[in-house]
Amino acid sequence: MASIGHEVIGIDVDLDKIDALSRGEAPFYEPGLPEILVEGVASGRLRFSADISDAAGAQVHFLAVGTPQQPGGYAADLTFVDAAVDALIPHLAPGDVLAGKSTVPVGTAVGIAERIRSTGATLVWNPEFLREGWAVQDTITPDRLVVGIPKDAGGERAAGILREVYHPAVAAETPFIVTDYATAELVKVAANAFLATKISFINAMAEIAEVTGADVTQLADAIGHDSRIGRRYLGSGIGFGGGCLPKDIRAFSARAEELGRGESIAFLREMDAINLRRRARAVRLTIDALDGVYEKNITVLGAAFKPHSDDVRDSPALDVAIHLRGFGANVTVTDPAAIPNARRLHPQLTYVEDRDEALRDADAILIVTEWDEYRRQLSPEHASSLTDGRVIIDGRNCLDAAAWRDAGWRYFGMGRP
Ligand code: UGA
Repeated sequence: MASIGHEVIGIDVDLDKIDALSRGEAPFYEPGLPEILVEGVASGRLRFSADISDAAGAQVHFLAVGTPQQPGGYAADLTFVDAAVDALIPHLAPGDVLAGKSTVPVGTAVGIAERIRSTGATLVWNPEFLREGWAVQDTITPDRLVVGIPKDAGGERAAGILREVYHPAVAAETPFIVTDYATAELVKVAANAFLATKISFINAMAEIAEVTGADVTQLADAIGHDSRIGRRYLGSGIGFGGGCLPKDIRAFSARAEELGRGESIAFLREMDAINLRRRARAVRLTIDALDGVYEKNITVLGAAFKPHSDDVRDSPALDVAIHLRGFGANVTVTDPAAIPNARRLHPQLTYVEDRDEALRDADAILIVTEWDEYRRQLSPEHASSLTDGRVIIDGRNCLDAAAWRDAGWRYFGMGRP
């Protein structure tokens, strides 16, 4: 927002984060973010504060706090949304726009609008579609903007203000969809549910491929050429994780149950189950390949839930590592960015920063996060110089199977012969 000319103040309750951001240091790994952050802070247009009263005077307030899965349940935990709205209310002025970006159960916005009514501010719902690892690009050049507005006259005015806020994207004729609250809230969860379904669909095909000798990656290429289907999000392997897709499909299921329409999206539970089965499959493949993993040395390449991120929330990679350790393997995990976060979450695993050191004397190598360092920059010949183990498990179907086999390795993919 600062980089496109706005005066911005970012507010958070975490003082350490505020201090780091104020020094121009990003508190997490996100390509392109450090540069744009330093620029924003240096320009004076971007400031940070832990004091919510600093929000007073802004014309637009973005609400972007997390909505994690409830402990012990499927529904979204709205504690942080509620706390942020309560804290903000005394500082909202008539004519202000409150733009909700948090992913919330459908029906939440109408309740927030009611709570802020007496302030004279207008609530719009403006869901977020950025992908971690591409956050800067997705924010500055989004593929669509969605704004849910109230039915009264203030709604159109607020949508106009958001058009001004997003002026570069609007000038570039990015689709700008103005709708009601419920549709805006649903667009977000429907998009993530669709993406999760696409990934689980191809992983279901991988399960069929495994009993028929078919190759799921070729299958994905072939169906992906149909422009109605498309190849993106047909990447098979150990499936989806992270802070969004898994918890969003669960929260959506929970909300649909509350609305008496659980059956309409009952298939999402199946998508979740397929997804989790693929993690177990990678563990089983490893056990079978090594004829048992007890006291075997296993190197796990990747800890983040996907490349270009240090996020380990619900990471399939770490899940696989933890289970192998549970079977008695000596598991060594490496990752170019996520080791500090992984270590905090699972201190019982062994972490090694250097890829080659991590690979030394491995009886089996698992690639579970497809960083370029592993996918493109690790040749079978180089791996052979580090270990006599000749087993490679490709949990992301991202390696050239023939090249590894030609170099004398036993290669195992997920749904590929
Ligand atoms: C996802 C959505 O893609 C964003 O549009 C959305 O804004 C975001 O959630 C959110 O709700 O905030 P993100 O969680 O950053 O973004 O990650 P994705 O790139 O969608 O990947 C999710 C998971 O699916 C990763 O574990 C990835 O490895 C896996 N994946 C992705 C596959 O297994 N196969 C694929 O073909 C693609």
